[in-house]
Amino acid sequence: MALLSVQDLSVKFGGEFGAVSAVKNVSFDLHRGERLGIVGESGAGKSITGFALMNLLSAPGFINRGKVLFDGKDIVRMSERQLRKVRGNRMAMIFQDPLVTLNPVLTIGQQMIETLLAHRRLRRDEAEFIAIQKLREVYISSPEMRMSQYPHELSGGMRQRVIIAIALLLDPDLIIADEPTTALDVTTQADILELLLHLCMSNNVSLILITHDLGVVCQLTERIMVMYAGEVVETGKTREVINDPQHPYTQGLISALPQQTLPGHTLKSIKGYMPSLLSMPSGCPFHPRCAYALDECREHRPKLVHYRDASVACHEVNRLHQETLAE
Ligand SMILES: Nc1ncnc2c1ncn2[C@@H]1O[C@H](COP(=O)(O)OP(=O)(O)O)[C@@H](O)[C@H]1O
Ligand SMILES: [Mg+2]
Repeated sequence: MALLSVQDLSVKFGGEFGAVSAVKNVSFDLHRGERLGIVGESGAGKSITGFALMNLLSAPGFINRGKVLFDGKDIVRMSERQLRKVRGNRMAMIFQDPLVTLNPVLTIGQQMIETLLAHRRLRRDEAEFIAIQKLREVYISSPEMRMSQYPHELSGGMRQRVIIAIALLLDPDLIIADEPTTALDVTTQADILELLLHLCMSNNVSLILITHDLGVVCQLTERIMVMYAGEVVETGKTREVINDPQHPYTQGLISALPQQTLPGHTLKSIKGYMPSLLSMPSGCPFHPRCAYALDECREHRPKLVHYRDASVACHEVNRLHQETLAE
């Protein structure tokens, strides 16, 4: 059984002009120890999906359909009490800005010890021992000394290491990391990503990595899910999708990568903008930006069609595939 099985998950935001769909029909399975990257431009619905997976959406956002089965139990239908148990013990979330997670008026040690004591029957000195050990695991120097420091006394990279140590405190099965390194400089970013990968692999922790950066997904994940305007447009093995993207949107994201650009040439980006949820185009949501769009694309919404190890929501790709099969 998959550790996490997401089935037809949809999220809406209620508003003055009626509810808009921010996430539509997202389905995927994640196995123990597996690492999945969720990519797409800003506004694609990645963070909302991450929050929905932990049932952490707040009004006006709500899950309006679907299941999120964690170890077979549906998170969408859990009571707040059951949720706190799962969230604390088995799933942890890492955000872009460590200051969102860290309490500025408590020392690192106080925050870690309180978290442990809230979830485990431990003596304070036992909790302190575990906290120091976790700080050591994320390569924080002089962890005993760090325990008595406040978040603002640490550098950005150090703070993100502390966040990772906190995420690992209760030995979770799944970590959801939302743009965990976007706020850091490039060198620190690389160190933190390597650390995250190492920790997930050595503890057999599953990872959902949310990012707009395909390079990061390539480095850390085995599977990829590309989102556009709240929908999944392509999934597959990360390496295969990066080497041979099928959906024109994925192709666009890849040709916009810096290493795809020759020196002296400007960085390509995909023309146009992702539509607002309030004015979604007819048919395929990507058609106004797509170089291959035909009438069919303007009129009918493509379904996500599943192949052996992958899936794509594009009329053209699916037609070519059928032609190949017919030959
Ligand atoms: N509080 C909110 N109220 C209404 N709509 C929202 C709210 N938060 C997010 N959205 C909508 O959901 C879309 C997806 O947001 P998000 O998941 O944060 O995107 P990203 O892929 O950049 O993480 C946004 O473009 C926005 O239209
Ligand atoms: Mg986001």
